[in-house]
Amino acid sequence: MSCVSCRPESGFDIRALEPLFVDHLPRLAHMCDSASFAGDLARSFFLTEEREKLLTRAALLHDIGYAPTLRRFGYHPLDGALFLEEQGEHPWVVEGVLRHSWAGRKAGLDPDVSASYARRPLLPEADWLVRAVTVADWRAAGVGGRVSFARRFQDIATRNPHNPDKVRRAGIMVNEVRDWFFDLARDMPADRPLPWVFCDVDNTLIRPGDRLSAPNKAAIRAYVDAGGAFSLATGKHPLSIAPLARELGLSTIQVAGNGSCLLENGEIKVLAELGEAAEALALALESRGLPIAVYRPEGIETGARWPQSLDEIFEHYGEIRPTRVRQSGAALKILCIVDGDDLRREEELRLLAAEHGVDCCRSDRHFLEFLPKGGNKGQAARVVMAQAGWPVLHSLAIGDTENDEPLFALCGACAAIGNASEWARQGTDWTVGPCTQDGVGGFLDQVREGRGWEGLRSER
Ligand SMILES: [Fe+2]
Repeated sequence: MSCVSCRPESGFDIRALEPLFVDHLPRLAHMCDSASFAGDLARSFFLTEEREKLLTRAALLHDIGYAPTLRRFGYHPLDGALFLEEQGEHPWVVEGVLRHSWAGRKAGLDPDVSASYARRPLLPEADWLVRAVTVADWRAAGVGGRVSFARRFQDIATRNPHNPDKVRRAGIMVNEVRDWFFDLARDMPADRPLPWVFCDVDNTLIRPGDRLSAPNKAAIRAYVDAGGAFSLATGKHPLSIAPLARELGLSTIQVAGNGSCLLENGEIKVLAELGEAAEALALALESRGLPIAVYRPEGIETGARWPQSLDEIFEHYGEIRPTRVRQSGAALKILCIVDGDDLRREEELRLLAAEHGVDCCRSDRHFLEFLPKGGNKGQAARVVMAQAGWPVLHSLAIGDTENDEPLFALCGACAAIGNASEWARQGTDWTVGPCTQDGVGGFLDQVREGRGWEGLRSER
């Protein structure tokens, strides 16, 4: 694990972390992903190098007290802090571990634990770090993986169906911790007053079959004129969105092919491809009688089972016309036409994806997509912002379905469009108006008029 390899100058030797969790790898993954989020937090909000180091260390170690061999009180923040203190760890790191996520303040604590907390004075100078570690803790799923605040809460709610009290408390906590994040995010330099918005296209910005609406277009223009950045982030072929990017006057890079490629100044840049898996996967899908389309930089080619009627659906979606002839170039993704209501089929195809070492996600009720590992909207948005030297968490995502999830997880905050799937709405910080009522435009106006992070708050 890369985050475990960093060599400390003093305190606990990080190389000893992994052996403590040999039988608890999901917990270790959670700690590593918290540390990685903390790194983004530090770099996005311009913490000094020294503070960055302390914060990422505290985030990495925040759950060390779960290691079975370190158990003393059976209360992980206290057990972890006591151990790290003995290891000569920096007092701010110890404080971050001791008090992260409201530790020591929860009701029903063991009297010995409460007494230990009462004996330890608060360290006001480390308060920022306690908050930042808490934010990082809430942006890494319990078993590892980066998630939005709302998805982390959902995760807790799903894992504790018989503990409504815990779920209720988590609901209050997630709102508070999200607001701490907004407080951190507020002080952006004047030349970047507004977050970079990554916006899905189909069923989010535009309802398939419709044109870009005048209110959405005006809102995007006003947002960019006010110093914001805006990029499309779509599963579509890059050539399909080139006219839309032009109509919007966007000078940014667009995310296409579900993050497998970018559209930059009319040029397509491949970020990830299916490689050898493409051929075998296409065969396996076609042998099941399923219509498929393979996306390549130069265009879209259909499989043998593609009926003519599907060309019209593509047209309806504003996708470029697929061809029957084999094209050259990398396979960016395979789109498979299969109804999402057929749950057995869905499970079978997701297993198939795993067998071929590729990712699989649904972008529509009828569209199941097979994507290269490392080719998703979140990773592509990171590349786009890195290229522009833009702080990665100074960003907002808007989307409606499963293929937007990595984008929701990457960005500082995220919104679902009103007509989004229930899953997407539960995993986002806000739900905005529906696509048919220019929900994207309304949200952009709200962010612009509220001067970015300053006007954004958790809904209570
Ligand atoms: Fe944690």
